[in-house]
Amino acid sequence: MSKRRIIFDCDPGHDDVVAILLALASEEMEIVGIVTSAGNQTIEKTTTNTLKLLSYLNITSIPVVKGLGKPLCQPLVCSPEVHGETGLDGADLGEIKFKPLEKNPIEFMYQTIMCSEEKTTLIVTGPMTNTAALLIAHPDVKEKIDCISFMGGACFGGNTTPLSEFNIYVDPEAAKIVFKSGVDLFMSGLDVTMKARLLKKDINAIRALNNGIGPILADLLDFFNLSTTVNFLNDDPNYEEGVHMHDPCAVALLLHPEKFVTRKLYGDVETSGEYSRGCTVIDYDGIYGREKNVTVAFDLDREWFAQYVIDSVGKL
Ligand code: RIB
Ligand code: CA
Repeated sequence: MSKRRIIFDCDPGHDDVVAILLALASEEMEIVGIVTSAGNQTIEKTTTNTLKLLSYLNITSIPVVKGLGKPLCQPLVCSPEVHGETGLDGADLGEIKFKPLEKNPIEFMYQTIMCSEEKTTLIVTGPMTNTAALLIAHPDVKEKIDCISFMGGACFGGNTTPLSEFNIYVDPEAAKIVFKSGVDLFMSGLDVTMKARLLKKDINAIRALNNGIGPILADLLDFFNLSTTVNFLNDDPNYEEGVHMHDPCAVALLLHPEKFVTRKLYGDVETSGEYSRGCTVIDYDGIYGREKNVTVAFDLDREWFAQYVIDSVGKL
């Protein structure tokens, strides 16, 4: 069976890094391109982080293209308080060994998708600016997109405002375009990603891996752990703090859907409002009676997930 062709649209970012590592470790996926987005940090820094990661792994064959530098309509909002000044604080992955492809990111995505007989899957783990621009510039591309699996939004809650999650908040207009695109959507929102935690024992297991990436990834995760927002589940007496692995859910959900609890629902995005900008409106009870357009993840087997991350990183 041929591998699933993947284009990442991402803003590395600590959890974006883990998402890329899961895809690299999978025998079912082939990353045919990485387009960077501005979100966790500026486009320059997220692109540098992507090149550093692949260089550290001695992977120089995957094309990396610098994406659009700001949201479609809104001013750029970054999150140095979460990912640090570099966007990947906590460890240094060393020197860059190759340059990004000098191509228009939207044309790169379009040509990479259209040139193959096989459909391509988009994994979006940052603001959806590049993906939305692709869908607007080239509507015919939808026929060759298998699905879009993205980390973003929430049915209940938010981490940037009480109602909005960071990736959607940064570029709500882009997210609205994706939600209305008609492409098969798989949403890993905060409902599931706040449960997809790596506990201290899991990070210790990653640190103990006797490969190059294990120990340095553990250092990155230790930094990320210190910076992530307080968890809304922490009033659960059995709750154990951990590092929220938001973006890796967008990969794991595609590879192991049986480990997740999902529901197909109607969803859209609020692009304005004093309190509601960037809110993903997910119609959990079908109140609107509209056509269901997004498969939303709500829960996962956390123990399995943590071991899956450890085992995947151990393969690299
Ligand atoms: O809200 C979590 C999301 O924002 C993740 O994609 C993380 O990398 C940040 O971009
Ligand atoms: Ca991200």
